[in-house]
Amino acid sequence: MILLLPAVCCAGHASAADRALGEKLAVEHCRRCHTIPGESNMSIGNSPSFKAMVTSPAGDWRYKFEVFYALRPHASFVRVMEFRSAPEYPLGIAPVAISLDDIPNLLAYVDALAADLRK
Ligand code: HEC
Repeated sequence: MILLLPAVCCAGHASAADRALGEKLAVEHCRRCHTIPGESNMSIGNSPSFKAMVTSPAGDWRYKFEVFYALRPHASFVRVMEFRSAPEYPLGIAPVAISLDDIPNLLAYVDALAADLRK
């Protein structure tokens, strides 16, 4: 138990996460559907923009970014490499492949975005 403590204490430590890597990930994988600040693109139909999400008064946006791969519609096209089974991709949707290690970077990026946009 004692041996586990360092891992628990530092797992979500901000300095371990990299905002630039998170932004790269968002541009590469999320821009296809979501509008991302600073990127000229048009979002798809009902995909909320990153700006709308991080400035939303609802307090749950950060939690949703932590688990987005399990939330609809992502569960059907996002493959998390650490999980054993790949989703059965619906026709016409290019899969997104990420690692659980990407999530802290993504969170570092959206946290920074939230701090900038909420000023
Ligand atoms: C193929 C299109 C598509 C891609 C690619 C995509 N999303 Fe989404 N995302 C959506 C749609 C559509 C919604 C709205 C779902 C709803 O309103 O129920 C959404 C909603 C969300 C939400 C809010 C979830 C909720 O339940 O409110 C988050 C957070 C999110 N996306 C993060 C991401 C991240 C991070 C990426 C990239 C790693 C990404 N998405 C890539 C289509 C996409």
